[in-house]
Amino acid sequence: MGIAAEITGDWHAALAALAWEVEAGADETILDAPVNRYELAAESPKPLPTKASPAAAAPDPLQADPVAIARSAAEGASSLDALREAIASFAHCDLKKGARNTVFADGNPKARVLILGEAPGAEEDREGRPFVGRAGQLLDRMFAAIGLSRTSPDTESALYITNVMPWRPPANRDPSPAEIALMLPFVERHIALVDPAVIVAVGNTPLFALTGTKGILRARGTWGQALGKPLLPMTHPAYLLRTPAAKREAWADLLSLQARLR
Ligand code: URA
Repeated sequence: MGIAAEITGDWHAALAALAWEVEAGADETILDAPVNRYELAAESPKPLPTKASPAAAAPDPLQADPVAIARSAAEGASSLDALREAIASFAHCDLKKGARNTVFADGNPKARVLILGEAPGAEEDREGRPFVGRAGQLLDRMFAAIGLSRTSPDTESALYITNVMPWRPPANRDPSPAEIALMLPFVERHIALVDPAVIVAVGNTPLFALTGTKGILRARGTWGQALGKPLLPMTHPAYLLRTPAAKREAWADLLSLQARLR
């Protein structure tokens, strides 16, 4: 229990410290014993640049730029399986270190509709599948209402679901613009490989990733373009769980999608 256990005799302070740890993202046990990362760093000091290794003085631009590494890895993936592999072995995003699973996608890759979400939550991280928690169940019900399902083998009624971020951010915080920029090459390649007729961006993170703008409450329901495809921004189902009155507008957006697919 870390800090909390060390604070003896003060139940309230221990509880507050535990709440603080949870807020900071330490809400799951990962290892049986704590790791002293200061010791690890001391054990493996970085080699000093020498005359014999001029590369240290003039770094390879590709090596120095994680976004360029991501772009190169993404562009090298010629299938969804290869892309899944490329993302799973991409080591330059810190979110990966705190995640149990890489959450790649779910649904039918032949679907006409691709839903782009934000990032996995705790349940998605545990299962390795996007949108399996409460928000995901609402998402499934919403799209079922217009005849679309991630389990449908039929292209016309199928859905494909993925997220901007394949790893769960600590304490479910929003991914930062830098994290989004880092993973964007994979998102772009993912969408190019699936080649859907329509993209539905649920929430601010996918709206920002695809258009560079925020303000999902203003943008929702208005068709735009992203990556050469029609883009429909919608509010996130987690928002709809918190704000049931907004379901009315979400229903209008679903009907607009249904009309577009006819
Ligand atoms: N919210 C998202 O945006 N994606 C998920 O996979 C789960 C919750």
